Amino acid sequence: MKDVNVTVLRFDPDEDEKPQYDSFTVEAKKNMTVLDSLFLIVEDQDPTLSFRCACRLGMCGSCGMLINGRGGLACRTKIEDLGDDIKVEPMRNLSIIKDLSVDMDKFFKSWEKVKPYFVPKEDTEEFSVIPPSSGRREVIDENQDCISCGLCYQSCDAVSMRGDDFVGPAALSRAYNLIADERDGARAERMDLVTDDDGAFGCHSFGACVEVCPKGIKPMKTIQKIKTKKLKRTLGMKW
Ligand code: FES
Repeated sequence: MKDVNVTVLRFDPDEDEKPQYDSFTVEAKKNMTVLDSLFLIVEDQDPTLSFRCACRLGMCGSCGMLINGRGGLACRTKIEDLGDDIKVEPMRNLSIIKDLSVDMDKFFKSWEKVKPYFVPKEDTEEFSVIPPSSGRREVIDENQDCISCGLCYQSCDAVSMRGDDFVGPAALSRAYNLIADERDGARAERMDLVTDDDGAFGCHSFGACVEVCPKGIKPMKTIQKIKTKKLKRTLGMKW
């Protein structure tokens, strides 16, 4: 057990003119996570601290935040890996609702732009199975583990620069999965939706999205694949 200093950004847009930081001393136990420390602060020191979480297992994607300047899931980030001074801030590129809680509306609206749902072809069987061992399965498996935490979106400099226009890494990854799925009946339409400067060609390939994804997904690599498919399509090749 040791004491750590947890500094948290505080901001209530309805009350405050600008954000400020509050520091709390927390007794950290072995294996304690940043999320655990926030709960301790609420229980023992300041019940008004606001943050979002649900599963505490790295599955729901709701506890994304900046931890010592790097995007991560608070429930998966151990205090012992961070040192004695920990700074916790809300995700970038999204407006603050209060303290560490951000408004995810812009993030999910970006998904809507890419038609993020499967559209069956007219001749698709009701249960259209892809054998797990087939290559087709591997292609569309790549991004399936996305938990929509928004960490890639908040780390993306193209989103920072372009605001709402650029759809961002998570939505493009989702779009690729559907474009690559041979059963999908809206591949061509979706390609048109994601291959302009607000889509794949707006990506600057900085790669921050790859660094922060808690599921090991590589959105930048996926965006390159969309560009390759677009090129093949333009050249009249099979894509
Ligand atoms: S609380 Fe669900 S991912 Fe952290």
